Amino acid sequence: MKLKGDMKAPIICLVGPPGVGKTSLGKSIATALGRQFIRMSLGGLHDESEIRGHRKTYIGAMPGRILQSIKKAKSSNPVFILDEIDKLGKDFRGDPSSALLEVLDPEQNSTFHDNYLDLDYDLSRVLFIATANSLSTIQPALLDRMEIIDVSGYSLEEKVEISKRHLVPKQALEHGLKSDSAILSLSLLQFIIQKYTRESGVRSLDRTLAGVMRSVAKKVAMSEKYNPKLVESDVIEALGPIMFDNEQYLKVDLPGVAVGLAWTRVGGDILFIEASSSKGKGKLVLTGNLGDVMKESATTALSYIKAHAASLGIDPDTFEQTDLHIHVPEGAIPKDGPSAGITMLTAITSALKNKPVKPYLAMTGEITLRGKVLPVGGIKEKVLAARRAGIKEIMLCEDNRRHVEQIPMDYIKGMEFTYVSKMDQVIENALGFLVF
Ligand SMILES: Nc1ncnc2c1ncn2[C@@H]1O[C@H](COP(=O)(O)OP(=O)(O)OP(=O)(O)O)[C@@H](O)[C@H]1O
Ligand SMILES: [Mg+2]
Repeated sequence: MKLKGDMKAPIICLVGPPGVGKTSLGKSIATALGRQFIRMSLGGLHDESEIRGHRKTYIGAMPGRILQSIKKAKSSNPVFILDEIDKLGKDFRGDPSSALLEVLDPEQNSTFHDNYLDLDYDLSRVLFIATANSLSTIQPALLDRMEIIDVSGYSLEEKVEISKRHLVPKQALEHGLKSDSAILSLSLLQFIIQKYTRESGVRSLDRTLAGVMRSVAKKVAMSEKYNPKLVESDVIEALGPIMFDNEQYLKVDLPGVAVGLAWTRVGGDILFIEASSSKGKGKLVLTGNLGDVMKESATTALSYIKAHAASLGIDPDTFEQTDLHIHVPEGAIPKDGPSAGITMLTAITSALKNKPVKPYLAMTGEITLRGKVLPVGGIKEKVLAARRAGIKEIMLCEDNRRHVEQIPMDYIKGMEFTYVSKMDQVIENALGFLVF
């Protein structure tokens, strides 16, 4: 922009989990460019005329929201945020994402036609920035017109820094506190982040810090004596008992439990897969609200184990005499995707061999019947989630190595990565025995 002064603006789409600052980033771009800022939320919009306007012959006809906003901004080159573009609706009143196709096409939007105005309007100087949580619900043609920029979640260190520089001063101000009436050390911030929040962004951290500030504000207001250098017990007094205690949870050393990594539209998460075998007739039961792909992974894993029973040291007759139950806790949340394949394999083998899985190990990867491990997506979010949860080692497909190498070193400090390409390597690493 500095070189050209006035260029045909690109159309940017910021994609990432909630609360990572996509909308705020749009605002900052407007401030930095010194332009007007418009935000239009597309969430739940399902009427095409909201975008393109009604023809004047209708009663109560109005121009579309795009032109109304431009009129309000009194500028034809504002920064225009199209918020929540992935949540556009669609029904009998038309399909607004098709109307947006024209708005967002840099080749066509110099002659945008609004039905009310009945004139072409030049939108090509407007800097459009769309935000979305997930790309999967955006119409492909619309997606093709935008430049996608991934905004991924924050690491623990970044969250500490954001709290120190922005959130703590902001909350102190909002609660009418002076900066020296509540002092939060870096290690205390880390404690709050790890024990009271589990998210990619910083929204619930912001609320949690507000809770701490409220409790301090009460003490100040009631002239109670207290030490402004807050410690862990003050936080526990303000927020209640610790909410997330990962350690405890990961130390389970029962056979049949394996930790997987999942990717959802709200960031990464860890996922426990439990398998248990009992005397029976060779039935496979799956519970925990699993999707079709995940059920197939379980069946594939079991078929592989059956086919390689001898080399795994499992008596082939056991399959006919045992029932297998696989459960993925938190049944209220639907789970699907191929990336739990190697976790299923590990959990089932662990249950059948009665051997616990290596502690603090998480894994993700798709499996095939031939015994290969395939790469999966969402690696960065998954790695960040694993770190949040206190995992020390991650097992991944060899082909995912390049994705891990793109993650800044600070994010993965102290974590170990093991790359595998075959299923026997998975078993060897997770369960510690060789497969012949
Ligand atoms: N890097 C950061 N520094 C300071 N504050 C931040 C940062 N990132 C996010 N925030 C704060 O987090 C809050 C949420 O940010 P924002 O609304 O931009 O999220 P978003 O990515 O648009 O989320 P959603 O997808 O839910 O719309 C804001 O109050 C913002 O100030
Ligand atoms: Mg937003």
